[in-house]
Amino acid sequence: MGRLLTRTQIRRIVAENGREVLAHPNMQRERANYQHGNVSTFAHSIRVACLAVWLADRAHLWGRVDLKSLVRAALLHDYFLYDWHDWDGGAHRLHGFTHGNAALLNAMRDFRLNAIERDSISCHMFPMTPTAPSYVEGWLVTAADKLSATRETFSLDRFNKGRDDAEDGANGRNDDGRNGTGGERAR
Ligand SMILES: [Fe+2]
Ligand SMILES: [Fe+2]
Repeated sequence: MGRLLTRTQIRRIVAENGREVLAHPNMQRERANYQHGNVSTFAHSIRVACLAVWLADRAHLWGRVDLKSLVRAALLHDYFLYDWHDWDGGAHRLHGFTHGNAALLNAMRDFRLNAIERDSISCHMFPMTPTAPSYVEGWLVTAADKLSATRETFSLDRFNKGRDDAEDGANGRNDDGRNGTGGERAR
């Protein structure tokens, strides 16, 4: 694995290693569920996968990382398959604590997961949830998730119509073709 990967190379790595996950009908459903601002869970998951690969590359961790497991765990870390804005009667109190396990159960139903993938998905909300990831891949996923969520929540990009989804397709295309109004989900 070469170092200092370009954005295009990283997107290609995610598309290739995540092909099975990205093609699944339930993953495609994530295009309609919104995460932070106007970013779909699908686009957020691709962003986290790209960022996790970027972190592994910049930290020179290739000798210690199972690349395919890293990408698949990152893509599935929020595979809870509901719109959390509608869940919990709108209170959202428990979502942060429970959705890692919900994602794991869904992912185990739809895919054959190894131990790295299972642990990285279920522990990605650490330290909000008590169990820390057991593998370096899990630490990369949780770090990438937090960096990505912060950017998505506070970025002015959310006010640009459909831009986040358009920018984050692993194949360089619009993730869901949605022409939503930027900031409509602002909270
Ligand atoms: Fe999450
Ligand atoms: Fe996430």
